[in-house]
Amino acid sequence: MNLILLGAPGAGKGTQAETICAKLHIPAISTGNMIREALKNGTEMGLAAKSYMDKGDLVPDEVVIGIVKDRLQQDDCKNGFVLDGFPRTIPQAEALDKMGVRIDKVIEIDVPDETIVTRMSGRRVCAECGASYHLVYKKPKVAGKCNFCGGALVQRTDDHPDTVHARLKEYHAKTEPLKAYYEKQGKLVVVDGQEDVADTSRLTLAAIEA
Ligand code: AP5
Ligand code: ZN
Repeated sequence: MNLILLGAPGAGKGTQAETICAKLHIPAISTGNMIREALKNGTEMGLAAKSYMDKGDLVPDEVVIGIVKDRLQQDDCKNGFVLDGFPRTIPQAEALDKMGVRIDKVIEIDVPDETIVTRMSGRRVCAECGASYHLVYKKPKVAGKCNFCGGALVQRTDDHPDTVHARLKEYHAKTEPLKAYYEKQGKLVVVDGQEDVADTSRLTLAAIEA
């Protein structure tokens, strides 16, 4: 199954991608994680993307299209994948279509902006492995430490309130038009993302299996 997870920043795409991937045994492809990894490794692409990310702006289309194209050619994508955070603009969606990639379903995780701001302020991520937590909704077993690798939990630089507002603005202007794009293709399914993580997972898996 080839899936796209659509939704505002902080809607829970990464959280739900984990559940879907564990259930369907397919990889999650998160452009945000790939860019952060490139930045951590000091690559030219990562460093060029940093200025956009820090402001809450989208990275230029040609950069992300290139990394997704390469990633989808890897062997582990043969039996399906979940795209988390891509496409995010109409030109990115058109590029995916032009690559000849067949998409089965596009799941939109729908969460209002007010909830997003609360979620982002409580998110903490592992500085070592990138695993994601929340101070209230998804606490680590030991405060401030990653369950998997013991790494320190930190706030993402783009999760500060001003940047979150900028990211939401980008989302409404550039990503929201994708809903109509995929609705026209008969692929869009909307899931209520305001429930807790487990209930949202149930709704998301039901939407995939329907
Ligand atoms: P990216 O990393 O993709 O960020 P995003 O889309 O803004 O999404 P997030 O990772 O912030 O949130 P999420 O929806 O995955 O939510 P999560 O599950 O973590 O992109 C970052 C930047 O990279 C962009 O701004 C851009 O610059 C660049 N970029 C990336 N892709 C790009 C592209 N295609 N084109 C151009 N630029 C690109 O959940 C959030 C928090 O809420 C967590 O703490 C979680 O524990 C908690 N939570 C989740 N679900 C629930 C729930 N149901 N109830 C309560 N809490 C919950
Ligand atoms: Zn970790």
